[in-house]
Amino acid sequence: MGTHDTDHPLYSSVTLGNVELNNRIVMAPLTRIRANTDGTPTEMMREYYAQRADFGMIITEGTWPIREGRTWGQQPGIETAEHVTAWRGITDAVHERGGKIIMQIMHGGRISHPELTGTGRTVAPSAIAAPDPIRISTGKVDPVIPHELGLDELATVIDQFVAGARNAMAAGMDGVQIHGANGYLLHEFLAPTTNLRGDAYGASPEKRASFVAEVVTAVAREIGAGNTGLRLSPQHNIQGAIETDDADVLATYTALARSLKHLGLAHVELVHHEPEGELIQTLRREFGAPLIVNTGFSRFTQREVAEELVDKQAADAVSVGRLALANPDLVRRWQLDGPLNEPNPETFYVGGEKGYTDYPVMEYSL
Ligand SMILES: Cc1cc2nc3c(=O)[nH]c(=O)nc-3n(C[C@H](O)[C@H](O)[C@H](O)COP(=O)(O)O)c2cc1C
Repeated sequence: MGTHDTDHPLYSSVTLGNVELNNRIVMAPLTRIRANTDGTPTEMMREYYAQRADFGMIITEGTWPIREGRTWGQQPGIETAEHVTAWRGITDAVHERGGKIIMQIMHGGRISHPELTGTGRTVAPSAIAAPDPIRISTGKVDPVIPHELGLDELATVIDQFVAGARNAMAAGMDGVQIHGANGYLLHEFLAPTTNLRGDAYGASPEKRASFVAEVVTAVAREIGAGNTGLRLSPQHNIQGAIETDDADVLATYTALARSLKHLGLAHVELVHHEPEGELIQTLRREFGAPLIVNTGFSRFTQREVAEELVDKQAADAVSVGRLALANPDLVRRWQLDGPLNEPNPETFYVGGEKGYTDYPVMEYSL
C-alpha cells in the first residue's frame, strides 16, 4: 500500500440537510434486483447494505412507491406494511454499524410493462413508447405505448411519491432521494423528447420542470426539506430522454432549481460527465443546496477524481456506483490506497449472493 494522504478532505465529515456523514463518499443508488417478487426486501439485501455502512451515506437502489412505478421484477418497493418492516431491518443494521442510509424513490414511468405494473398499462407524460426492449418474466419484449397521465392522475402520482417518502421515514431511513434522472417518470417530464404536453406541464422549459418541482415540494412538505434530496441527470441522453439543446437544458433545470431553492433541500445529486463544468456548477448555485456529483456511466468513479472534486470544492460529496458495489470497504481501501475488487457486470442485475454479498473486504494489518 502506498503513502497516501488519509487526512484528505474526501474523508472528512459533511452535513447534507439532516444527515451527518462521516466522510464524503456516498454509495450511489444501484438497482440489484434481489428483492422478493412482491417487492419485499430480503435478508440478503440487509447483509449487502450493512456491509457498506462505512460509506458516508448509502443511497438505496431505486424503490417504487406504488406498483405502477415498478420497472423490474424483484425491484424493491416501499408501498406495503411488509415493505416497511423489511426495510426497517435494513436501516437498523446500517445504523448499528454507524452508517447512514436514505431511500431513492423511483417511479419508472414508461420504462416498464403491464406485466410489471399490474395495472394493464404503463404511464408517462406523453403517449410515446420507450426506445428499448423491456425485460419481463418471459424475456425482453417491445415496450407498449404508455398512457398519457391526465391532470387528475398527476395529483395522484404526487400523493404516491409522498406516501412512499412517508413510508421510507417510517422504515427508519435518514431521508429520501427523489429519482429525477436516467429517463424514468420524472425525467420524462423534464426532457423535450418525452414530454409533448400542451398543458401546464409541457411546451416550455419552465412547464416541463413544474411537475418535478411539485413532487419534490410535496415530499418536502410531508417529511421535511432537510430529509429530502433530488437526483438529476441533465444531458445523460438515455432511454429516449434526450436533451441536446444546451440552452433548453439550462433553462429547464434552472427553472426547476429556482422553484425549489427556497425549500432548503438536503442535497441535489447531479449525474454528469463534467461535474466541474459550467452547467453543473451553475445549477449548484441555482439550487443552493449541498451538491453530490456522480460522473456517469462512461467511466468508473476513481479515487483521484473523487479527491480532486472535493479538493477543488466542485462538490460537497461524490457518489460512487460500480466500485461501491464491488468494494464494501471502499472508503478504507481508498484511504489506505489499497487494491480494488473488479465489479462483475454479469451479476449486476442477476444472481443471488454471487456478485452481491460475496465481494471480499481488504486484508490489512495495522
Ligand atoms: C448496476 C447498476 C444499477 C444502477 N441503478 C441505479 C438506480 O437504481 N438509480 C439511479 O439513479 N442510478 C442507478 N445507476 C447509476 C449509478 O448510480 C451511477 O450513476 C453510475 O453507475 C455511474 O457511476 P460509477 O461510474 O461510479 O459506477 C445504476 C448503475 C449500475 C451500474
